[in-house]
Amino acid sequence: MINASHLIKKFGNTIAVQDVSFHVAEGENLVLLGTSGCGKTTTLRMINRLTEPTSGKIMVNGADVETMQPETLRRGIGYVMQQNGLFPHYTVEENIAIVPSLLKWDKEKIKERVKSLLAKLNLSYVEHAHMFPHELSGGQQQRVGLARALAADPPVLLMDEPFGALDPINRQKIRKDFSELDEFKRKTIVMVTHDIQEAFELADRICLMDKGKIVQLGTPRELRDNPANEFVSAFVKGQYLQPDLK
Ligand SMILES: Nc1ncnc2c1ncn2[C@@H]1O[C@H](COP(=O)(O)OP(=O)(O)OP(=O)(O)O)[C@@H](O)[C@H]1O
Ligand SMILES: [Mg+2]
Repeated sequence: MINASHLIKKFGNTIAVQDVSFHVAEGENLVLLGTSGCGKTTTLRMINRLTEPTSGKIMVNGADVETMQPETLRRGIGYVMQQNGLFPHYTVEENIAIVPSLLKWDKEKIKERVKSLLAKLNLSYVEHAHMFPHELSGGQQQRVGLARALAADPPVLLMDEPFGALDPINRQKIRKDFSELDEFKRKTIVMVTHDIQEAFELADRICLMDKGKIVQLGTPRELRDNPANEFVSAFVKGQYLQPDLK
């Protein structure tokens, strides 16, 4: 479904991503895991062309993304940004309706979709649909960000720290709600996190990165039972401290 080969991204002298390749099968959930600055967001953003690679190639559903109009590509790929990225001057309903409106769904169908997504994510249409993002809590904003990414039912979902801004209790609750949605189960997902527990709960396979490179790609069990090196071993035990945090 998604095939990334030999991705490299340079920003001036910084090599953010160095020769990263992976395949995500249809319906699979691949988690990009790693320390801050290791290139997770940059890798994710290359899939829907928010960032253009310096070299390398990405195929989505058999098509080279470079040959596609970015707008067309993005309509088929839900995207949850690291900071929820809601439009501040749009209401909750308008934020969720962005892609369905671009796809020219009729108004009633959009409203029904917004209602059903809010209900699935434990928000109330009556109470929340007409609010602006700043009137919501961080957790509510993240739920709206998820609803917006799911709105047009895209087959592919890219999520960048979708539960990142939450306290541990809310984080676990929203994660559980989300992982039980049938949307979550049937979509092809690439999700970024630096949270090892989150990765182990949600991933079919984990791509553990460090300094722009893949250190190990495998199932949670493979990383736990057969770590490729000391870094993987420490990371999966939650014992790895970033050098500047030591
Ligand atoms: N637009 C940019 N211009 C210059 N450097 C950038 C840009 N975007 C990212 N970088 C650099 O690329 C590297 C990887 O950044 P990236 O955002 O992909 O990391 P990340 O793994 O998502 O980190 P975090 O967990 O903190 O979100 C970092 O060194 C960062 O400073
Ligand atoms: Mg990031």
